[in-house]
Amino acid sequence: MTAFGHADDQSQRVLSEQASRLWHCSNLYHIEPQVKLAQLLVDNTFADKAFFCNSGAEAVEAAIKFARKWARAEKGAQTFEIISMKQSFHGRTYGALSATGQPSLFEGFQPMLPGFSFADFNDLDAVKKLVSDKTCAVLVEPVQGEGGVFPAQRSFMTGLRRLCDDMNLLLIFDEIQCGFGRTGTFCAYEDYGVTPDLMTSAKPIAAGLPLGAVLMTDAVAQYIKPGDHGTTFGGGPLATAVAYDVLTRILEPQLLQHVRDMGDYFFQQLQALKKKSTVIKEIRGKGLMLGIELDIDPKALIDACAEKGLLICKTGGQAVRFLPPLNVDKKQIDKGLQKLQAALDETGDENGTTR
Ligand SMILES: Cc1ncc(COP(=O)(O)O)c(C=O)c1O
Repeated sequence: MTAFGHADDQSQRVLSEQASRLWHCSNLYHIEPQVKLAQLLVDNTFADKAFFCNSGAEAVEAAIKFARKWARAEKGAQTFEIISMKQSFHGRTYGALSATGQPSLFEGFQPMLPGFSFADFNDLDAVKKLVSDKTCAVLVEPVQGEGGVFPAQRSFMTGLRRLCDDMNLLLIFDEIQCGFGRTGTFCAYEDYGVTPDLMTSAKPIAAGLPLGAVLMTDAVAQYIKPGDHGTTFGGGPLATAVAYDVLTRILEPQLLQHVRDMGDYFFQQLQALKKKSTVIKEIRGKGLMLGIELDIDPKALIDACAEKGLLICKTGGQAVRFLPPLNVDKKQIDKGLQKLQAALDETGDENGTTR
């Protein structure tokens, strides 16, 4: 899930340079690369303010706290519920897991944090039915990742924005997996013509170094006071210096065009593979976040791919997911597809069903 692949040269240079200057500093002081990164995010997204932490789950934890703080101040202490989506994934810590719409992941860890309810993804009426005077926010991934690579429909996203405006609720986008170039725009929400009030981010930002971010409007940030939330390592000099460089490169229009072009190419090639296979049921996704739904258990296929040097992973249902680096080229995609084809021939299509 690193934006520019393994051991990216430029990230190595930025990291070494920063390491020779300052690699840890208390958050009591301004950290120059952190300030630059915050400014870059504010200049290029809906956000007025950014908070940095160490991971996706931590970003979701912070977003839950910030949303509840806003709601308490704006609407009173009874307003703390967050409507999330079924099959969503928001992380493994208690708050983030409680917000995750996959009850199987709760097993052994109950009771979960109170104040979360779950609506069917892409069903605006289902969300509306859950809204009450206790609701403070709606939390959604613009493209569900762990749930099986399901993009939100445009009408769902615009409907959520309208609902949140009408009911004075916060709209939180979890772009930890689908954000920052992955779907072919800098933020995934750009393709929907709506903006959130809060957004969480992590995975690709710092080329594999631990970094998470919560972006928010001033309307939310005004209630977050020094000492309300914090972290020792979050937003440290190493990760934020690398992230500044990574995000500057992702913002290049040629790079985002490349993601869209490679995404289209990959999608078409997967469609061609599907035509020859009886075990591939559906291809879906956006940009370079693609998944194939199989009608077999994907485990054998994943193992066969790994033996051939192609790392893919299982996601919701019987789907496998592809999240190549954003700078992947056609040759690399073709090479991966050849391995996938060979693995399909060995496993799901071993009875000659591929051809
Ligand atoms: C949409 C989404 N939110 C949150 C998380 C949790 O992020 P992390 O593993 O960095 O805690 C993930 C991780 O897969 C994710 O895909």
